[in-house]
Amino acid sequence: MADFSLEWRDFFWNPRTHELLGRTAASWGLILLFYLIFYLFLAGMFALTMYIMLLTLDDYKPTWQDQLSTPGVMIRPKGNQLEITFSTSDTESWDGFVHNLNTFLSPYNDSYQVQTNDNCAPDEYFIQEDSGEVRNNPKRSCQFNRTMLEECSGVLDRFYGYDKGQPCILIKLNRVLKHEAVCLHPQSYKVGEDEWKEDSDKIGPLAYYPPNGTFNLMYYPYYGKKAQVNYTQPLVAVKFLNASLNTDINVECKVTSNTLAVGSDRDKFAGRVSFKLRINDK
Ligand SMILES: *[C@@H]1O[C@H](CO)[C@@H](O)[C@H](O)[C@H]1NC(C)=O
Ligand SMILES: *[C@@H]1O[C@H](CO)[C@@H](O)[C@H](O)[C@H]1NC(C)=O
Ligand SMILES: *[C@@H]1O[C@H](CO)[C@@H](O)[C@H](O)[C@H]1NC(C)=O
Ligand SMILES: *[C@@H]1O[C@H](CO)[C@@H](O)[C@H](O)[C@H]1NC(C)=O
Ligand SMILES: *[C@@H]1O[C@H](CO)[C@@H](O)[C@H](O)[C@H]1NC(C)=O
Repeated sequence: MADFSLEWRDFFWNPRTHELLGRTAASWGLILLFYLIFYLFLAGMFALTMYIMLLTLDDYKPTWQDQLSTPGVMIRPKGNQLEITFSTSDTESWDGFVHNLNTFLSPYNDSYQVQTNDNCAPDEYFIQEDSGEVRNNPKRSCQFNRTMLEECSGVLDRFYGYDKGQPCILIKLNRVLKHEAVCLHPQSYKVGEDEWKEDSDKIGPLAYYPPNGTFNLMYYPYYGKKAQVNYTQPLVAVKFLNASLNTDINVECKVTSNTLAVGSDRDKFAGRVSFKLRINDK
């Protein structure tokens, strides 16, 4: 027992050999020096990597947060959990939707668009490339006038049809860099897990604004919000003209395009959005 504790004391500090924990001062010094150099080297590598990465970042090129190759589709008004439920006769049940649309569409006012954006030639890309190292910034953007949404602009009908049971839903794409003509097809409803069924009966006839339900090419390519400071995202409004009342209608909106592999297996939610619409008559 005494031997054992003596052994331990010797191991911790051995006065004869001057070893601390079994090593001499020189040995400890070498170890510390080794780790010091090792960690300095690691820190240096890290700093160098960061530096190179920051060099390659470009202020004016959209980063992937800002740019998507496949469109993410979103709707307005933002309902609770993509649910738009209201009663035609109960003003309070749709007042929030109208307010939401008013706020969202405020920067689309014609007067505001004229101040900030260009009146571009429709049906062609609005190309503003940099020429080599010479940057072509800031870039201009095209006007998307609120009145182009006609019945869904909130100008002709300030309640967007909600008071008449003919609600407008706005469809917008996330900041897509580039795409070709895109059409909208809100015409299916979900009958089961992963099962979609055409159901024009419940959905009823629809009206699109702008009339053929496409996002015009002039709003593309999108160069990112740093380069195109006044960019206004194009919209398509869908008006439900005679949707069935007092029933849940599951609507899927799919964006189709000739170049994008929309709804590919890898990302089956790309290019589509589904929401529930329910219009009660009392
Ligand atoms: C757009 O017009 C509406 C009324 O028509 C107004 O309340 C709103 O402030 C305007 N927004 C801008 C950005 O001018
Ligand atoms: C937007 O509205 C303004 C003012 O009414 C008009 O001058 C302009 O041509 C419109 N732009 C487009 C793209 O329709
Ligand atoms: C953005 O809009 C402002 C007016 O609100 C305008 O003065 C400016 O020139 C515009 N910039 C670009 C790049 O379009
Ligand atoms: C949509 O309308 C534009 C002109 O208004 C036309 O050039 C284009 O072909 C139309 N697209 C479809 C799919 O009907
Ligand atoms: C609206 O749809 C109902 C069936 O849901 C139908 O009976 C009615 O005739 C339609 N009204 C119009 C104006 O199409």
